[in-house]
Amino acid sequence: DMMREVLGLKELERKIKKKLPVEDVIVVAGDSDQSPWVKREMGRACVSRIKHSLKGNDIVAVTGGTTLAAVAEMMTPDVKYRDVLFVPARGGLGEDVTNQANTICARMAEKAMGHYRLLHVPDQLSAETYQSIIEEPAIKEVLELIKSSTIVIHGIGDAKTMAERRKTPPEEMTKIEQNKAVAEAFGYYFNQDGEVVHKVNTVGIQLEDVRHVPCVIAVAGGASKAKAIQAYMKQANRCILITDEGAAKQLVRDD
Ligand code: BG6
Repeated sequence: DMMREVLGLKELERKIKKKLPVEDVIVVAGDSDQSPWVKREMGRACVSRIKHSLKGNDIVAVTGGTTLAAVAEMMTPDVKYRDVLFVPARGGLGEDVTNQANTICARMAEKAMGHYRLLHVPDQLSAETYQSIIEEPAIKEVLELIKSSTIVIHGIGDAKTMAERRKTPPEEMTKIEQNKAVAEAFGYYFNQDGEVVHKVNTVGIQLEDVRHVPCVIAVAGGASKAKAIQAYMKQANRCILITDEGAAKQLVRDD
C-alpha cells in the first residue's frame, strides 16, 4: 500500500470517493486504453476483492465484455469457491461469443474451481417463443438462481462503442443517440445524469434487482470510459468501483 501511496493511486481514490457516490474504489496503475495488460491488473484487483466479499455459498453473477474476460483470466482457485455458483447476469445482449457472459462465467468458474450454470436463451426470438422458453423448467431454475445473486460483477462501457459493437438495429441506434446516452452496463444505456434512456430486452438481472444485491463490483478503466463511469455511478447504489489511473485522472478532472 505504501507503493500505491507513492504512485499517487491512493490520492486518486480519495478524490474519486469525494466526487462519486461509490462505496469503495480501487485504482490500478496505467491506462487500459493505451496498455491492454492494465485490464489484467484490474482483473487481479477484482479477484482479490471478490475473495474478500465471499460468504461461502454465494451466487456470483457476471456480465460479458473484454474487461470481465480479463477478470476471468486472473481468477485463481481457492477453497472458498467450493460452494460458490457462477451464473451469467443477463442473456442475449448481441455480443460475439468471446465477449458473452456465458463464456466468461464458465471460464471464471473453471479457474476458481467453483460451479457454474449457463443461460441458453437465443437473442432474436418472437415474443411468443420467448415466453415459452422462459417458462421451461430448466431455464426458469437458472433465472431464479440469477435473481438471487449475492455478488454481481459487471463492466461499464461507453454507450456509442457498445451500441456499435452489438450491431444495434438503426431505430434503436437513433434512440440511443437522440437521448444522449453516454454509458452502458448490462444492456442498459444511461444519459449523463444516470437516467436510463434505453434497455436491451432480455432475461436475467434487471436494474431494479441490482439495487438489492449485497455486493456489486463494477470494473471499468481507460480515459475513454471516464464519462461513462461518472454517469453510471450517479444512479448506482453502494457500488465498488475498480478502475485504472487513465480513467481516474480523467474523472477527477472532468466536470
Ligand atoms: C458487456 C457488459 O458485455 O461489456 C456491459 O454487458 C459492459 O456491462 C461491456 O458495459 C463492457 O465491455 P468492455 O469490453 O469495454 O469491457
